[in-house]
Amino acid sequence: MRSRHMADQRTIERLVIFGATGDLAARMLLPSLYFLDAERLLPDALKIVGSARSKLDRDAFVTHVHGVLERRPEGLDEAAWARFSQRLDYYAADVTKGEGVEAIAQCIEGASTVFFLALSPSLYGAVAKALGDSGLACGDCRIVLEKPIGHDLESSRAINAEVAAVFEEKRVFRIDHYLGKETVQNLLALRFANTLFEPLWNNLAIDHVQITVAETEGVGERWPYYDEYGALRDMVQNHMLQLLCLVAMEPPPDAGADSVRDEKVKVLKSLRPFTRAEAQGASVRGQYRAGVVDGRHAASYAEERGGESGTETFVALRADIENWRWAGVPFYLRSGKRLPERRTQIVIQFKPLPHLIFGGAAEEDVTANRLVIDLQPDEDISLLLMNRRPGLAGTRLQALPLSLSLDNGGRRRIAYERLLLDVLADNPQLFVRRDEVELAWAWIDGVADTWRDLGIAPKPYAAGSWGPAGAFALLERSGRTWLDE
Ligand code: NDP
Ligand code: BG6
Repeated sequence: MRSRHMADQRTIERLVIFGATGDLAARMLLPSLYFLDAERLLPDALKIVGSARSKLDRDAFVTHVHGVLERRPEGLDEAAWARFSQRLDYYAADVTKGEGVEAIAQCIEGASTVFFLALSPSLYGAVAKALGDSGLACGDCRIVLEKPIGHDLESSRAINAEVAAVFEEKRVFRIDHYLGKETVQNLLALRFANTLFEPLWNNLAIDHVQITVAETEGVGERWPYYDEYGALRDMVQNHMLQLLCLVAMEPPPDAGADSVRDEKVKVLKSLRPFTRAEAQGASVRGQYRAGVVDGRHAASYAEERGGESGTETFVALRADIENWRWAGVPFYLRSGKRLPERRTQIVIQFKPLPHLIFGGAAEEDVTANRLVIDLQPDEDISLLLMNRRPGLAGTRLQALPLSLSLDNGGRRRIAYERLLLDVLADNPQLFVRRDEVELAWAWIDGVADTWRDLGIAPKPYAAGSWGPAGAFALLERSGRTWLDE
């Protein structure tokens, strides 16, 4: 496997990052490339070419990247930096106007190139066209697109079509960085490398599924982007539906890119469209007001944005998958900013015991089995099992977790490290296919349209709380509850 990757990597000699001075590049892309290089995993000949409209020269860009890496908690290794900095170059360009593209073309010199668009999605079509017009999109060049691809199904289709006019699908790599997380990849191993779970992985044994992505951070400086998208489009359309697909999909014939993506597509096709009749009961929108997070005062979203807004910073939803495996098993999704803790977690809640043979006090002790998959901050899988409490005083039971920590004590990789290596190696397995993106938007549009038509506005919640009261009612209505509020 490794030799194939290494052989393919040698063919890519330029990585052009459009938007190289932005937040994503600073927090994810440049550190990932630096760490990969420090481990000698990048092709020797690879040059990393930054680009944005800002009129920097190469030295100023190198200084910027040095600052970005120096501020990281891992610290900067001088030898690794000396090597990495040699790879860096910078060209100012406004790709939408075609300005500066010629200089980039000269530096590419016909080499195989990956173009990474760390830009607003509204620019993707124009950039693809500019690359096509200037002859840069040739040969085995690849284009990497960040989520969200569009704002709804229509805009997503338009962007995908504009990109497809220049790059064939196999050269388009759509990133959902959750797919690069170790624990997310481990979901496939957990499900399909064990015989234990698969016979129980259905509506006969499972009561419901919870997927939570909770963040303590607010929207902050990103509000111009966020205000247009909100939690539904920023998190549910992509990361959360990808997690849902990996939990719900049928076993693929193999782990090949299209085998897995075909199965995810079937899940997306089986999502029951959101209806007006159930919108109030099956979804909750929230927006944080001022409060306390991690013991510190946190401003409201409206204060951060500098005015009132109708955008949700919290969403909770019930999704139903209409197929034989999952009929009657609700998938509850919730995600929000300024929640009490950072936690990304999938809970598979099994059904209660059909009959308890232990009478008396043991009845109070019983909890249904539960598989908890923690993705962040800890990488952990635990299966909650009932046990007898040792002792002579009658039968009492206790629930104990059987725990499997995935933390190997080493540095936690940035998800983009894996994804960048895969783009260089031309391996599309962890990237999102066009039909997946569009099916996900079709379902999300149903939710957003219903909210708009019914005038469902975000309910306030205090920063540092678990969202509006409706989020609790969403589960309580059917006698269920979120795990560990
Ligand atoms: P930023 O606004 O921080 O950065 C945008 C970058 O694009 C800047 O380098 C800007 O530099 C450049 N830029 C803007 N307009 C042009 C133009 N016409 N031509 C060339 N360069 C231009 O955005 P982010 O880094 O936050 O986001 C980038 C993409 O990544 C978006 O699609 C976003 O949705 C996605 N994303 C971001 C995440 C994050 O955590 N930040 C997480 C997941 C996805 P200049 O002004 O000098 O041109
Ligand atoms: C991004 C969203 O895609 O994912 C952000 O745009 C969010 O709003 C981030 O904060 C969460 O990613 P992670 O890896 O920190 O869970």
